[in-house]
Amino acid sequence: MCLTFSKAAIAWAAMNSSNTVRLGVLGCGTVGTSFVQLITEQADEIERRTGMRLEIAAVSVRDASKERAGVDASLLTTDSDGIVTHPDIDVIIETMGGVDHTKALMLSAFGSGKPVVTANKELLALHGPELFAAADTAGVDLALEASVAAGLPFIRALRESLVGEDVSRAMGIVNGTTNYILSQMTEHGASYDNALAEAQRLGFAEADPTADVGGFDAGSKAAIIATLAFGEAVRAGDVHIEGIETITADDISNATRMGYVIKLLAVVEQSDSGAIAARVHPTMLPSSHPLASVRDSFNAVFVEGAGIDQIMFYGRGAGGHPTAAMMVGDAIDVALNKRAGVHRSVGELGSAAIVPIDDSVSAFYVSIDALDQPGVLADIANAFGSEGVSIRSMEQENSTDDVARLVFITHDAIESDFRKTLAAVSDLDAVKNVGQVLRVVCD
Ligand code: NAP
Ligand code: HSE
Repeated sequence: MCLTFSKAAIAWAAMNSSNTVRLGVLGCGTVGTSFVQLITEQADEIERRTGMRLEIAAVSVRDASKERAGVDASLLTTDSDGIVTHPDIDVIIETMGGVDHTKALMLSAFGSGKPVVTANKELLALHGPELFAAADTAGVDLALEASVAAGLPFIRALRESLVGEDVSRAMGIVNGTTNYILSQMTEHGASYDNALAEAQRLGFAEADPTADVGGFDAGSKAAIIATLAFGEAVRAGDVHIEGIETITADDISNATRMGYVIKLLAVVEQSDSGAIAARVHPTMLPSSHPLASVRDSFNAVFVEGAGIDQIMFYGRGAGGHPTAAMMVGDAIDVALNKRAGVHRSVGELGSAAIVPIDDSVSAFYVSIDALDQPGVLADIANAFGSEGVSIRSMEQENSTDDVARLVFITHDAIESDFRKTLAAVSDLDAVKNVGQVLRVVCD
């Protein structure tokens, strides 16, 4: 049977029973290919357990002549616009990435009464509030389980189980590529470049891996988590972002020696006043912290709230199959909702104030090279004290004849006070270099 997108495939699909749900898939790369494979493999089991037969009606790509493992070539088309408006396609699965054109396609799908399942955190972090509102207006679902921490069912928990919870903070390892790189560097002494190349080969990295290593991918996910955890519109631009490019083997061995691991964390917090802080940065975590044991491309999100105390979600954070598995779950959900004539809304999002990074509070690690002479440590400690930054611990290491490396960890401090401290320390004649600065989660 020849299933070209525009006619035969749709006609064939339309001939099936009314329990058939026809899926239009946008994109057939790492995630899209896995999605098509999973639907093909699981269709009988899904039908047995849900009463619905999910079928791939069409798949859009840029290059329809390229072979894709397990994907019927006759389903391929370059006409994404045609898929989202086709009357015989019921649900849109968006795995193509991108922002402007993809947003237009989603709006067009909503306008045609079709729910959308997406893994596109970049788009959601930039335009999520508008897209949620457009889906509501159209009375259809926008399902996004795979957009944050790919293979762990965490968004559903935020949108359903935790919607009545007073969540105060979520801290997540939400980028598989960077967690893989840091794990390889920590556990196997791998070089940053080799570990990144391997993450790309394994299909974890974004098309442009600077989105991963620069922290932007985690930043998008932080914005989505904050939006859903607090019911407030938080966008990519509201998130302070630092990546892992400056982390060296030295930093990792220092952290290990001191009983910490370095992880790229996304942190979102809501204060009692309602203001929201959202940031992404490499962080020193005590090796006893539950997030410290999250290795390889695994992700985890640690949520704290008034009633729940602490919950941690853990799973594969990247890769075709884990991501596609969540999208299959979403496809079933939105199809069931469509059949029932309902959709799930995120409600009316608020517009809480965003805490500027200068006002945020954290403990810090800093390494300082200074002359190994009487009075130098006192001068440095005085600079900390003058800005109200309290020192939690200090170690002296790697002394050469006349220069010592001093490693400080502070108690919680306001970011701007800590930055002023560093400026004052740099001005001391005896200080030769202010080195790595990392935020620290204390025991
Ligand atoms: P990918 O391997 O680069 O695949 C992208 C697919 O979209 C390709 O098949 C490409 O076609 C197609 N495409 C791109 N632009 C298109 C256009 N304008 N029209 C039609 N087709 C187009 O990317 P991916 O890794 O699967 O990621 C896809 C999305 O999932 C992204 O939003 C990503 O952030 C998200 N995500 C990825 C992962 C992961 O582990 N990879 C995990 C969670 C979420 P061609 O094949 O013809 O070039
Ligand atoms: N590039 C992303 C990561 C894919 O490494 O986590 C999952 O969103």
